[in-house]
Amino acid sequence: MIITRTKKELKETLKNLSKKPGKLALIPTMGNLHDGHLSLIKLAKLKSTKTISTIFVNPLQFAKNEDFSDYPRTHELDIEKLEQEQCDVLFMPINKDEVFPDTGKIKNIDSGMLGKDLCGKIRPGHFNGVLTVVNRIFELINPDIAVFGAKDYQQQILIRKMVKSLYSNLELLTAPIIRSQSGLALSSRNNYLSKDELLLASNLFKSLQRSVESYNNKISIDQIINDAQEFLKSNNLFPDYFELRDSQLKKIANNSFIGKRVFLSSVTINKTRLIDNIEF
Ligand code: PAJ
Repeated sequence: MIITRTKKELKETLKNLSKKPGKLALIPTMGNLHDGHLSLIKLAKLKSTKTISTIFVNPLQFAKNEDFSDYPRTHELDIEKLEQEQCDVLFMPINKDEVFPDTGKIKNIDSGMLGKDLCGKIRPGHFNGVLTVVNRIFELINPDIAVFGAKDYQQQILIRKMVKSLYSNLELLTAPIIRSQSGLALSSRNNYLSKDELLLASNLFKSLQRSVESYNNKISIDQIINDAQEFLKSNNLFPDYFELRDSQLKKIANNSFIGKRVFLSSVTINKTRLIDNIEF
């Protein structure tokens, strides 16, 4: 795997790579790679001939009170894992100046109303930061395909919207959620949890599964959400939200909705926020 640490190195590597035929697939990450991330690389490799991953903990998507400085950085292990997956190129910038030109010139992307809903409500500005960095990574790499995970459902929808308006030739792939045996969706933030907290955290997925079951049994949406929130609280998982939406994240008024739906939730356990969803 070729590791590039500056914009200049990246540019040269991409120039050489462009001589090889076929599609280039991009997998952006913030590192601390787990099997969820690696499933994205595997999918990218199925759909393309060249893969490039990025590892960049993007300061723009963290609020001042959030975990930017504590976010796990495990570069050596990450490189080993990417090599095992036979990823062709890694862009792991030495600092943020290799991603953003001097601050005045950053092209800020506005995530709109949806960016202020759900996770955006509890993390103001988060999705503007995500879209701004993803747009910048697209500008630097110009991939044919980009792969994101369904775990970050709202992020993936917002990126789709941005791509529709700015990158008509870019194909987006969404990879399914990879979970641990207990059902807990893999996440770098699971590293913040103790053994006991990890056990409790697996109830987030259980609450989503139970909600799908209740929906299919024609229980009212209000009742399902109320039950789910009580169940979560009884397991020390404090819900920031627990909602049923359609696959574009529009609100669903009643059980007679036809089409794909998704239960989504964000919970806090001690100081760690976890998200999960089930599309059905
Ligand atoms: P990060 O949290 O590192 O996730 C990188 C990609 O891996 C995202 O597309 C995410 O949805 C996917 N992913 C994470 N956990 C997963 C799991 N358990 N199963 C399947 N896919 C999973 O998301 C980000 O980074 C950043 O916001 C980023 C898009 C890189 C912009 O900074």
